[in-house]
Amino acid sequence: MFSRIAASSAVPLAVASAATLSLASPADAKASPANLPAVKASIADLISSDASARGDGTALTGTFVRLAWHCSGSYSAADNSGGSNGSRMRFEPEAKWGANAGLKMARDRLEGVKEKHPEISYADLYTLSGVVAVEEAGGPSIPFRLGRSDFADGATSPPDGRLPDADKGAVPKTVGHVRDVFNRMGFSDREMVALVGAHALGRCHTDASGYWGPWTNAETTMSNEYFRLLVEEKWTIKKTHNGGKWTGPEQYEDKTGNLMMLPSDVALIQDPEFAKIVKEFADNEDLFFKEFAASFSKLLELGVPFPKAWWKFW
Ligand SMILES: *[C@@H]1O[C@H](CO)[C@@H](O)[C@H](O)[C@H]1NC(C)=O
Repeated sequence: MFSRIAASSAVPLAVASAATLSLASPADAKASPANLPAVKASIADLISSDASARGDGTALTGTFVRLAWHCSGSYSAADNSGGSNGSRMRFEPEAKWGANAGLKMARDRLEGVKEKHPEISYADLYTLSGVVAVEEAGGPSIPFRLGRSDFADGATSPPDGRLPDADKGAVPKTVGHVRDVFNRMGFSDREMVALVGAHALGRCHTDASGYWGPWTNAETTMSNEYFRLLVEEKWTIKKTHNGGKWTGPEQYEDKTGNLMMLPSDVALIQDPEFAKIVKEFADNEDLFFKEFAASFSKLLELGVPFPKAWWKFW
């Protein structure tokens, strides 16, 4: 710890010794020695080789964002339980939660990266996969810190039901539910809308969530397209699918029937407070990227008590 600080020649001695004293909980000094750029490159390789192997547009991009988000979104600010530390999603009960259906595939695909870089914890790897997915898709750089550890079982998992449902019936109920979920994690309306903008990436699968289709026509490109489409397209309830009757849960479609929105997406333009923010992001991609990067980073660190970097004490 001391040698790490002393090794930095730019640090005046007086400051270095003060920092040594004030670091009461220097977990960051023993942060995982994982070679972050190399691990990120392995995840990026996995994403791009998977996309070219499948060539059907159903890439790992959206799945890794969902994995990172579902590891973290179990957090409650009320009692500081849940969150990504521990990688509890590997175990029951979280592995069996309905909201996590389909994510075992994503965790299994990351096993190759874990074998190559055994020094990174699963908890860091799962959250980092979402960061890499966003960055490789042309999105903003996401501030990311290593240091989460892996728990031995799911004994400290919070109760099920903390991840948002896409549909709670009528719009006011759905809006209320979505707001409750994000407020519980400690997010403001703005941060929440920014996070939902990740729907630019990926698609829904009938065998996972029951819903079908992508939100945008470029599901492996991070952009503000989700917000633009929400504002500009006319969204109607989906009635048919592949020439037959749609039998899945209630969802919306654009006039081509190729794109989808969940009830919780459409709720964002029906609630006046949310709609204002949606329009700002639809008009200004830089603003969206900036706020998304900050909110996503905050999400991945919920309940992970990283110590303050020592230089921030001054
Ligand atoms: C993760 O949880 C463990 C066990 O509670 C704790 O010791 C550790 O400090 C946490 N890691 C971080 C980075 O907060």
